[in-house]
Amino acid sequence: MDGRFSLLGVLACPRCDRAPLEEAEGRHRCDACQIDFPSIDGIPWLFAEPAATLREWRSRADFTLQTLADEHRQLLATAKTGDVGDLTRQRLTAHADATRDHADRLAALLAPLKLEPLTARFESNLAFRTRLPSDQGLMTYAYNIHRDWSWGKEENEASFAIVREALAGASPGKTLVLGAGAGRLAYDVHMRTDAEVTVVHDFNPFLLLLARRITAGESIELYEFPIAPKSIREHAVLRKLAAEQPCRDGLHYVLADAHRPPFAKGSFDTVLTPWLIDILPERFGTLCKRVNALLADGGRWINFGSLSFHLGDPALRYTKEECAEIIAESGFDAPLFTETSMPYLCSPASRHGRQEQVLGWTAVKQRDVPKAPRHKALPDWIVLGKDPVPLLDSFHMAAASTRLRAYILSLIDGRRSLNDIVALFDQQKIMTHEEAENAIRGLLVKLYEASQRR
Ligand SMILES: C[S@@+](CC[C@H](N)C(=O)[O-])C[C@H]1O[C@@H](n2cnc3c(N)ncnc32)[C@H](O)[C@@H]1O
Repeated sequence: MDGRFSLLGVLACPRCDRAPLEEAEGRHRCDACQIDFPSIDGIPWLFAEPAATLREWRSRADFTLQTLADEHRQLLATAKTGDVGDLTRQRLTAHADATRDHADRLAALLAPLKLEPLTARFESNLAFRTRLPSDQGLMTYAYNIHRDWSWGKEENEASFAIVREALAGASPGKTLVLGAGAGRLAYDVHMRTDAEVTVVHDFNPFLLLLARRITAGESIELYEFPIAPKSIREHAVLRKLAAEQPCRDGLHYVLADAHRPPFAKGSFDTVLTPWLIDILPERFGTLCKRVNALLADGGRWINFGSLSFHLGDPALRYTKEECAEIIAESGFDAPLFTETSMPYLCSPASRHGRQEQVLGWTAVKQRDVPKAPRHKALPDWIVLGKDPVPLLDSFHMAAASTRLRAYILSLIDGRRSLNDIVALFDQQKIMTHEEAENAIRGLLVKLYEASQRR
């Protein structure tokens, strides 16, 4: 089966979309762009700016490890010298030990990120065009790992049941899971259907490095730090992460950005987007066009998850009915919807977890539509630096409040009281007495609360 399929046959350049890529010594190359794409632990690294993205994920990995080292120090310091009870001291000490052990385990898992030399040219400011979103850290989806490979049988079964129902007995053929996270659903689809191949895609290297090893049959131990531990013992839980059995041939991993999916047009019979569409900052209609381009004629898009679009513009926070309209306009038949009530991230060690009303759909590709524009993460006035920086309303407001904030902060010297600072504002006629008192107290509240948070 795998003899007929070659991953190389479906890969395309994330910069110019041209296929095929060349492959030699574990690297992929686009001759048109004259660029090499490395592999990380055997997983193709197909980002449009491969060196810049590798640098960025490495620095996010370093940041994670430094944060854990800091946390370890603070926990130990409070356990030693803090005004805490015996049980709290025990908990803090155990938490500190687990944090250090966890950091060592993460460092070992992330080692492949460091092995690849940064030989490709570093693409200066153009890399900002395809830059990673700053709110996606290496550990953003750490809970998914434990759900997928430790305690999440009920949740994983519910997800797979949605896909099985959507397939209605048909074979998924060549399957792509976009934004696959820790990979459980992709593994289940591959092991429990007759999928010809399953390509597991995500842009987070930690998730795919881990998923690749687990699905190959390794058992890995990592800590879960539950949000709301049920007992003192469940503050840091060392979990064994493993698949029931090593995956059969035909499960392939690809690290890339969903905004520039590095796959040739019409490569897949099924595209799955579990819990992804509202995470991407792009417009939903653009994603529909990208999924259309990935599918062969008659191919199937199976989606499920949240519809809680976190976009600033309320016009883009779509409901089920608006999604149906946009999907149909994007070259698909009218989608078939399902509604499922299922638990979401309900760790047995935590009191925190939710029950979700999950919307799913299957939409069959009916026709090609015009290609989605190439994604730009940031506008050219940032990337190229030649056009004037626009005075957006929010910039204007930020400038005014930053000046005020900076002035108030400059007056905090460990001697002046809140009333002294208000009096200075009064004298200088910056604001009325009442306005100054409200603004200064408000800022001090925020600063104080931030100082008390981790
Ligand atoms: C809510 S999680 C869902 C993970 C998985 N599909 C599941 O159901 O458990 C969203 C996933 O999308 C990935 N993701 C977010 N933005 C992405 C992007 N631009 N390109 C590729 N993956 C992305 C994240 O790394 C994360 O694994």
